[in-house]
Amino acid sequence: MKQLITLPFLLFSLLCCKLTTAQDNFIAKPYLQIGRTPSPDNLQLLWHAPDNDADWTVEYRMGTSGPWKKTAVPTSIRVAVAGIEPHRVYNAALTGLTPGGKFTYRVLQGKKEVFTAEGQASKASTQPYRFVAFADIGAETAAQKKLATQAMLAKPDMVVVPGDIVYERGLISEYRSRFWPIYNADQTTAEGAPLLRSVPMIVAPGNHDTDTRDLNKYPDALAYFYYWNQPLNGPQGVEGGPMVPTLTASADNRTAFQTAAGDAYLKMANYSFDYGNAHWTVLDSNPYVDFTDKTITDWVAADLASPAAQKATWRFVMFHHPGFNSSREHFEQQHMRLLSPVFEQGKVDVVFNGHVHNYQRSYPMTFVPDKKGVLLVASMGSTKARGRVVNGRWTLDKSFDGKTNTKPSGIIYLVTGAGGQELYNPEQNNDPDSWQKFTTKFYSNINSLTVVDINDKTMTVKQIDVDGKELDSFKITR
Ligand SMILES: [Fe+2]
Repeated sequence: MKQLITLPFLLFSLLCCKLTTAQDNFIAKPYLQIGRTPSPDNLQLLWHAPDNDADWTVEYRMGTSGPWKKTAVPTSIRVAVAGIEPHRVYNAALTGLTPGGKFTYRVLQGKKEVFTAEGQASKASTQPYRFVAFADIGAETAAQKKLATQAMLAKPDMVVVPGDIVYERGLISEYRSRFWPIYNADQTTAEGAPLLRSVPMIVAPGNHDTDTRDLNKYPDALAYFYYWNQPLNGPQGVEGGPMVPTLTASADNRTAFQTAAGDAYLKMANYSFDYGNAHWTVLDSNPYVDFTDKTITDWVAADLASPAAQKATWRFVMFHHPGFNSSREHFEQQHMRLLSPVFEQGKVDVVFNGHVHNYQRSYPMTFVPDKKGVLLVASMGSTKARGRVVNGRWTLDKSFDGKTNTKPSGIIYLVTGAGGQELYNPEQNNDPDSWQKFTTKFYSNINSLTVVDINDKTMTVKQIDVDGKELDSFKITR
């Protein structure tokens, strides 16, 4: 069809070109991370930019006035994997922050300010704080976008994601359409919110993030390892060992990936950190990990027994695949049940999971697995693990109601996987007979997120749906 060039069309085109030019400084706009050594007085600021030697500087100040302080020269890694225009991931260290304080920062290219935002430092152990948790998020759905907005409206101090950050394969290209524009939008609208530039987001690897290990087919897979800046204090994995599958990659594809990922590859799958008065242990729960192997369970036990963990008021564990799940979907993937005794020994309070696209809360519980369970493989003759059926004996604390009795006996397991992806088993929402005995709350007919307030020895948890309506709420006191 013949295209008529009208004046409004021409103006629109010019405006688009102008906008494109203004955005060219960034491939992904600045976002805050807890970094390798998290502390209430430091954060890392990351951004992605074209592959050239631009003169970047970052300046910041506590509050909104006072003299600007310059960070050390930003470092960068080059991401030059096949199929994607080479680009750089920059990183500037914001140090000397006031714990929990608001600060303003600006990014300059040459001498020109190209980005500015307000951020917030991590809370110290004496300060109350709020975090949002949601998993299975980057699916480019209307629900995901609405929940990004709900997360922003909750004014969290940090956001945690128990896996499946970006669908379908955690590719660079998928981050660009399904993740950055939604969680780091310039304004809070129905399309997204400026969450990532304001507070740190902390992520665990889900199957959609790190299960794709064929870099010949998908050279821009495993972006998890170079886009997130998190601690490297976990166990060192070995390719082909009990924690890390073997990469399928030509020499060129492997080099390109490893150059971008650096030490994060083989280190950043499992890690721990402290935030406020809580200790967090984050695990790679993908079924390619052999949870009957002692390397990982010994590390979890040692981490939970560490002075930092035992000194903390709260101990949280975050990973993707729930051990305790009432959905028919993924029901057979019970391998994480094997770690329950280790969590109990370490006095874990709450476990945050995703993978199952709905919300589920367990009773406070303890669990004794029968031996090591039965390994399931993906198909006949396959060696690829799909999961493990783990029977055992659970003990439920039904006297805890989170209202009048707020002292649980055992661990509460939360599935908060309704963060954006298509819901699983909505037909079970009103069918409590289909729930497992350990489940006390189950919402599978609406997308939702978890909002947690910690004030010293009191923890208040609320599950909020896409429209801001409260689905569940309970309190734990120590
Ligand atoms: Fe998943």
